[in-house]
Amino acid sequence: MSIATPVFSNRRQTIGGVAVVDIVKQFGTPTYVYDMATIAEKVADLAAFDVVRYAQKANSNIAILDRLRRLGVVVDAVSEGEVRRALAAGYPNHSSPGSPHPVVYTADVFDRSALELVKELGLHVNCGSPDMIDQLGEIFPGATITLRINPGFGHGHSQKTNTGGPQSKHGIWIDQVDDCLRRADRHNIVVTGLHMHIGSGTDLEHLSQVCASLEKVAIDIGRTLQTISAGGGLPVPYRSGQSYVDLAQYYSLWDATRNRLQDQFGHPLQLEIEPGRYLVAESGFLIAEIRAIKEMGENTFYLLDTGFNDLARPILYGSYHPISIAHRTPPAASKEIDVVVGGPLCESGDIFTQEEGGFVSKRTLPTASVGDLLVLEVAGAYGFVMASNYNSRCRAEEVLLENGQLHSIRKRESFEDLIRGESIPAAPHN
Ligand code: LLP
Repeated sequence: MSIATPVFSNRRQTIGGVAVVDIVKQFGTPTYVYDMATIAEKVADLAAFDVVRYAQKANSNIAILDRLRRLGVVVDAVSEGEVRRALAAGYPNHSSPGSPHPVVYTADVFDRSALELVKELGLHVNCGSPDMIDQLGEIFPGATITLRINPGFGHGHSQKTNTGGPQSKHGIWIDQVDDCLRRADRHNIVVTGLHMHIGSGTDLEHLSQVCASLEKVAIDIGRTLQTISAGGGLPVPYRSGQSYVDLAQYYSLWDATRNRLQDQFGHPLQLEIEPGRYLVAESGFLIAEIRAIKEMGENTFYLLDTGFNDLARPILYGSYHPISIAHRTPPAASKEIDVVVGGPLCESGDIFTQEEGGFVSKRTLPTASVGDLLVLEVAGAYGFVMASNYNSRCRAEEVLLENGQLHSIRKRESFEDLIRGESIPAAPHN
């Protein structure tokens, strides 16, 4: 079980027992490193739930998916690409009798290619819009589906990650369940699953409110239900002193809901949870090199060789990531200094130490020199997956640390990768 309140230090020489300088010697910077031991520990934390369904949008590298599969975790896919990733990582598309669907397609729309693939593979779909039921029914009558219901309220670590309530595009509005059941009947579709997800990185109070809402909807749907899903949204601490949710308490709330529904229906119900961040965030570190140190009026800047092209959470949400310095040569004594930490991009918002709204803040870090290494921590979820090639920067290397060994699980991109698919048409003759 994870410790109650982590303490983050602003100095770090090793990751999972391996020296940061050695990782950099082998792979250069910027590099994402994921510590497999942490991921395995997080999976074990959730063992009470019948099914742990990983929301792979948090980190969809096929090596991570493979390892989660080996740990008995099934997977959620939100696009054709995520379905194909799951298959590439060894997930079967069909479940064996009595076991959970290995891959579920969860979305609010079907793009045409995803719908084709769902049909071809016979995938189970978690429908987030009434139209999806008709679109599926036309090509796949008799399918079983899950309904993703928007309970009318939501919560997230930021307004941009709140996925419930009337301002959210996600899920089927709670008053439209009857309409959806009629649509399903028209196509001989059976609703076997019920799912609610109110936001990412929320808190226990809001997460707990979902149980009551789900229970009401479950009774409306009735005895065809076989699975209820608590969705994702489990927060992780990003700052010293923040704590984890009480998982035992969270589980017992859901278990009680499940038990009442089982009594009502007279058959067993599977209880799923669908975390992304919880399983991978704390395993991940983005290692960068300090390439310039500038005094600008009252501010000192540490400028890195990584920016929001590699880790977008600070510019998107004002997210806080713990930051530590790994000195190339540990100094006998180093002082601390309040600094602004920024990246190399030609854009003022390329700052890792910022609040929501773009207000620049400072972080107390050890004094450092150009060439020292800086580690952005708790970066395993929504890090690399949201990276871009802005400013024509190649995306970082990804490395898995497992049993003391470092494995490259995605090569650093090259210039050839960057321009793949681009072409120059013949010049017009004037
Ligand atoms: N299930 C569904 C249907 C979801 O939409 C999500 C996240 C999850 C599960 C997993 O949520 P988690 O356990 O990771 O909180 N880019 C944002 C997060 C967006 C999450 C979108 N949906 C961030 O960096 O915080």
